[in-house]
Amino acid sequence: METIIINATDEDGIKTAAMALKNGKLVAFPTETVYGLGANALMTDAVKRIFEAKGRPSDNPLIVHISDINQLRDLVSDIPDIATKLMDAFWPGPLTLIFKKSARVPDVITAGLDTVAVRMPQNPVALKLISQSGVPVAAPSANLSGRPSPTSAHHVAEDLSGRVEYIIDGGSCSVGLESTVLDITGSVPVILRPGGVTAEMLKKVLGSGVVTASEVKGEEKPRSPGMKYRHYSPRAEVILVSGDNSRVVDTINSLSSEQKNEGRIVGVLCSSENASLYKADVVIPVGSKDNPENIAAGLFEALRKFDDTKVDIIYSETFTEQGIGKAVMNRLKKAASGKIIEV
Ligand code: TXA
Ligand code: MG
Repeated sequence: METIIINATDEDGIKTAAMALKNGKLVAFPTETVYGLGANALMTDAVKRIFEAKGRPSDNPLIVHISDINQLRDLVSDIPDIATKLMDAFWPGPLTLIFKKSARVPDVITAGLDTVAVRMPQNPVALKLISQSGVPVAAPSANLSGRPSPTSAHHVAEDLSGRVEYIIDGGSCSVGLESTVLDITGSVPVILRPGGVTAEMLKKVLGSGVVTASEVKGEEKPRSPGMKYRHYSPRAEVILVSGDNSRVVDTINSLSSEQKNEGRIVGVLCSSENASLYKADVVIPVGSKDNPENIAAGLFEALRKFDDTKVDIIYSETFTEQGIGKAVMNRLKKAASGKIIEV
């Protein structure tokens, strides 16, 4: 299959892609978080193709994207008061809400769960595409399963060229990390995945706290099936090093020289302030230490850049957990499969 790339400013191109989407084709599109791989959410065969194109396990459910609040009623069996408050405050934007599903939502989207994830993205190109297609759009991140999520059309093409009909190029994603996933079907709202909308922001609107789901261990049934998979992984092994700044730099430099002596090629992921202090083979600064938004926007691109090099091992600094920093560290810990050296 030939993949056609459409520029986001090409109005006719967007119309063509929207019609194709409605008719069962796959269209990758920009959102403010990461690029999504869209299919008509009401068409089971189209949604199945998403799983094939990504190599995604079929027990990992998808988020349904809408452009108009009126589309929600068809998808869910109940809209709790708390949802109304949250949608008023954060939609359109990087917050996904889990509702009890209606019979209209095909099982292939929810992986057989009785709940459905819904989000209204903020990116104007995403909103235009969804509204012109006239249907709700199922869309996971537009990467091959296990690869870092794509934050540019180029990243999408790297992973999915020849596997999808269209890619809409809308430039870089402003947030750079996937949406916050919040389960509101229980007595207390639970953050299943941290993202751009933080626990503090949710608390301010709700007037009460939210719970963060702990990472899944062993055989326990995960609240969010996506949490059990190793995610956001560059090809090389990733090890985090955490602690006082100068000790972190010294430790990474001495670990790097040990590895180099054994003939391995070493990468370092770090803040821009520290980049000149490292002696590794490949040093990639991800953003400024004091600017978690900046680090969030650059993280997946940095992880992908390592894949273009021959590094065998990547040592990474850790970053502030303030604001979106919590989501940054959640993704980094997953990339490292939890491997962290405290110094
Ligand atoms: O920012 C985003 O959310 C991006 C853009 C494209 O919108 N999408 C995205 O989709 O990150 P995906 O498929 O990569 O991640 C969806 C996450 C998975 O962890 C999945 O398990 C969880 O949401 N999820 C989906 N439906 C769910 C449900 N009914 N209950 C619990 N978790 C659910
Ligand atoms: Mg994903």
